[in-house]
Amino acid sequence: MRQIPYALLCLSLAVFVSCARFTPEEKAELHKGEEVYITHCISCHGPGGDGLSGAYPTLLKPQFSTDITNNTLNIIRHGSSTADGMKAVSLSDDELVQVVNYIQNHWGNEAPLISQSDLKPSQKL
Ligand code: HEC
Repeated sequence: MRQIPYALLCLSLAVFVSCARFTPEEKAELHKGEEVYITHCISCHGPGGDGLSGAYPTLLKPQFSTDITNNTLNIIRHGSSTADGMKAVSLSDDELVQVVNYIQNHWGNEAPLISQSDLKPSQKL
């Protein structure tokens, strides 16, 4: 009998922790990032972020690092170095930060949120 309330407690704690991961302000920013993604990225990388095999890479990562975040900022701002690769996407600094936070914290991805102060001079408009 005592196991049931304990399970319930764990469950409500898990729900609480996952809900508390972002403040309402951060959730609003992530929502803006979703809009940027829908407008500028979804056509290639897809609604599930898993791209198209052989053409567009998946954005689903088991884990993120500052290097990956940095590459993501660079490829969106400047495009890829491969001739037929991704072209630069024209976004404001705000939109760039919002879309990177969105893709890095959606579809099961988890990474620390970045802000404009994390942008290198070459990644700013
Ligand atoms: C016209 C198609 C197209 C659009 C639109 C596009 N991408 Fe890409 N993206 C690509 C292709 C192709 C690559 C493959 C890597 C390369 O070009 O070297 C890529 C690579 C990437 C990568 C690197 C993935 C990896 O594992 O190396 C990221 C991150 C990324 N895109 C994010 C975005 C975001 C965010 C947007 C919207 C702001 C976007 N892309 C818009 C086609 C696109």
